[in-house]
Amino acid sequence: IPLVVVVPAAGVGKRMKANCPKQYLKINQKSILEHTVSRLSSHPMIKKIIIALSHEDEYFSETRLSENSKVMVVDGGKERVDSVLAGLAVIDPHEFPWVLVHDAARPCLTLNDLNHLIEACLSNDKGGILASPVRDTMKQGCNGVIEQTIDRENLWHALTPQMYPTLQLKAAIERALSAQAIITDEASAIEFTGEVSQLISSSSENIKITQPDDLALAEFILNKQSK
Ligand code: C5P
Repeated sequence: IPLVVVVPAAGVGKRMKANCPKQYLKINQKSILEHTVSRLSSHPMIKKIIIALSHEDEYFSETRLSENSKVMVVDGGKERVDSVLAGLAVIDPHEFPWVLVHDAARPCLTLNDLNHLIEACLSNDKGGILASPVRDTMKQGCNGVIEQTIDRENLWHALTPQMYPTLQLKAAIERALSAQAIITDEASAIEFTGEVSQLISSSSENIKITQPDDLALAEFILNKQSK
């Protein structure tokens, strides 16, 4: 079955403290967004990639992404979830019954992880997300002091891609938004509706570029992967 990916890329990347949004910072002469999209684009099942951009975006036209026939651009929104919804709005669920959402800022996704996620979702007919088990001891704090230790046995970092039936995800986000639930990823909207998400273990290479230090790490990982 053909798959579509929504790539929210309308953020400004405040924490990165760079002079352009982080998805346009370059690693080996190619922007992070281009690295991310070319990974996704190389997967044979992925037929369409919808990139949500800020309407003030000045950098996309400097990339060569519009030459990629799988790529389509939509106007993003105020929050990540608004950008995702803008992408979902242009998907025909008959053409694409399943959708993936993948952060522009995760260029190091491996095809292996992508395949695991797609396989788990399609074979179990249930949505799911790439996630990595928490490694450190987890503390709950309050006013700068420890309140308690949280059992890390069942704690995961939520990564992307996150993959769901197109209609299920759209309905869940709309319901969660209208109830003003906190939605920081697709799975949180699904949780709000009480539906199931599978946790698919991801390699630790699938980092999100958030802070300045992450850029050098991403470069290291991308160089290692291309060997
Ligand atoms: O800021 P953060 O790293 O959590 O953003 C995750 C992804 O969501 C990034 O790729 C960013 O560009 C995107 N985003 C968006 N629209 C917003 C805010 C963030 O598409 N309004």
